[in-house]
Parts: sequence; structure tokens; C-alpha cells
Amino acid sequence: MSQRIFSGIQPSGSVHIGNYAGALRNWVELQKNHQCIYCIVDYHAMTMPYDPAQMPQRVLDAALDILACGVDPERSLLFVQSHVPQHCELSWILGCTAPMGELNRMTQFKEKGERVDSVTVGLFTYPVLQSADILLYRAGAVPVGEDQLQHLELTREIARRFNARYGDTFPEPKPVLTPSPRVMDLSDPTRKMSKSVEGSTIMLSDSDEVILRLIKRAVTDVGPAGDEMSPGVKNLFTLLEATASPEVVAKFEADYASKSLRYGDLKAALSESMLATLRPIRERRAELAANPKRVLEILGDSARQCRKMADETLAEVRHKCGLGAGL
Ligand code: TRP
Repeated sequence: MSQRIFSGIQPSGSVHIGNYAGALRNWVELQKNHQCIYCIVDYHAMTMPYDPAQMPQRVLDAALDILACGVDPERSLLFVQSHVPQHCELSWILGCTAPMGELNRMTQFKEKGERVDSVTVGLFTYPVLQSADILLYRAGAVPVGEDQLQHLELTREIARRFNARYGDTFPEPKPVLTPSPRVMDLSDPTRKMSKSVEGSTIMLSDSDEVILRLIKRAVTDVGPAGDEMSPGVKNLFTLLEATASPEVVAKFEADYASKSLRYGDLKAALSESMLATLRPIRERRAELAANPKRVLEILGDSARQCRKMADETLAEVRHKCGLGAGL
């Protein structure tokens, strides 16, 4: 068995095709050959303004989406971060080795900090908690998108410093840069797909009719065609790659190269692959949503196993750090 994988996702409501293509598809793929631990990071979600009344539903929706996409509870662990409060203890301990100067340089902190009236300590130490998530399970590899590489580099730095100060404890986790294409907005392909823009985002829960309409309306070329593939066509190819077989993608790429590509054909193929991909996900989601007890059971079982692993790591960490009066 190869190294242990850890990754986290924010419970930010329903999932769209961009989240699927960028993260969840990789999560499903990786569990075939690795022991995977996946976490819904509700502690992290508290670092920006939020409504506590909505949080439980957001977490449950995330769990439904992740399971519906094919994360298999028989093979992988899927748990809610706050069910394992040990993350916070390790975060504190790591915070005492994390260099403040480096945290100050985190671009996500700077970006998010600009969007709030009052910047909290939690937002500042977000990457330390993320390091704790990963190191608590001594994960060797972390599938992330490019925007998280800086946090992962910080995790490696924190692990190095901890090991140097207290003795070899944590492996330095490596990023797994799985294919994580940026899916763009269907009506404005120069913008990243986001669920706040209605009518241009394909949600995993959308019906066949909605999906077909969105693809039909998707922008292809705007303005005079240059030598480069237009952003709209590129986006359709990105979605095709995420949902169709390599042969189908290769055929359309060859058509494009020989300038014989018809957008209508590309859209027809994309519609077919998209419906074929999303239909089973939607059906599994509906089945799971009808049985929330089963979902809570999966989350609870995983959390139990994670707490056990976390306690083992923490016992060693506490001992090495001289905590607990040696008892
Ligand atoms: N910060 C990550 C994101 O916004 C989510 C996350 C939290 C995470 N903890 C993690 C990702 C640990 C990988 C590993 O996408």
C-alpha cells in the first residue's frame, strides 16, 4: 500500500461541475490505490463570516455530494473536522513553531482579509490548522489545486521545524497535483465558474433539461477568431476531458487541429458525456439524501477512527514537547 492521502474541502454549499472536475473526481480516483482520509473542514469555514444556523446543512450537503461522487466509505474515511477536536490541539502546538513572517505572506490570507471588516486571528492562523489536519494523520500526499500550494509548502516548513526542534515526528507531505482544470463560467468563459452566478453554472443536482440548456447556450467564439483556441471552446474541451473518454477527447482535438471542428458536434458530445456522468451522481445523491441516518453513521464511524489515529499522534507529540507534566 502506498502512502496515506489526506485532503479537505470547505462546506460551502452545493457542488458544481467545477468542484467535481477540480477536486472530487481526483478524490475518487486516488482511493483506488491509496488509503484516503477526506475531511469536511467546518473549523476552517468559521474563519469567514457565516450563519451558524446554516452550517449543519452545509456540512451535510458537502457529505452528500462527496459520497454521491463516489468516495466510498468502505475504502476511505470521510469525516467532519469538528468531530475530531484533536485538530485544534495540534494546531496550537504547531502554531508555537510556525513562523509569523511566513503566515503574513500567505496570499489567501491577504485576499480574504481584504473582504472582511475585521480580520480575525482564526483567519490568520488558518494555514496552521490546515497543517495540523495533514500532519495529525502523518499523510504523505495531499491532492490540492494550485491555489493551495503555498499552504502545503508552509506545512512542509512547519513539519521540518517541528522535527528539528523535537525530533523526527512528521513526514513532509507532498502535493499531488492531480489534473485540476479551472472550469470557467459558461456564459462568460473569462471568469471562473462560481455558483453565485446563475444560469452559467452546472450544479451536480441540475436536471438533464437544465444541463442541456446550459450547454446549448454556452458561449463558443466571441469576436474574430485568432490563432489561439477561444476561452469558450477551451472551456468546453475542459468539461469534455472531465467527463468523456480519452478517445472522444482525442477525436475532437484532432478535428480542431484540422480546422474541421463543428461546435454543434462538440456540444452534442459534451451533452452526452455530461448527462452520463451526472445522472448516476444525482441518483446516488437522492438515495443518500433520503437516508440521512446512514450518512451520519458514515461520518460518525470515520470520526471515531480518526480520533484514534489522532490520539496516537498527539500522545507522541505531547511527550516530545514535554507537555502534561510527563504523565
Ligand atoms: N484550504 C483548503 C481549501 O480551501 C481546504 C483544506 C483544509 C485542506 N484543510 C486541508 C486541503 C488539508 C488539503 C489538506 O481548499
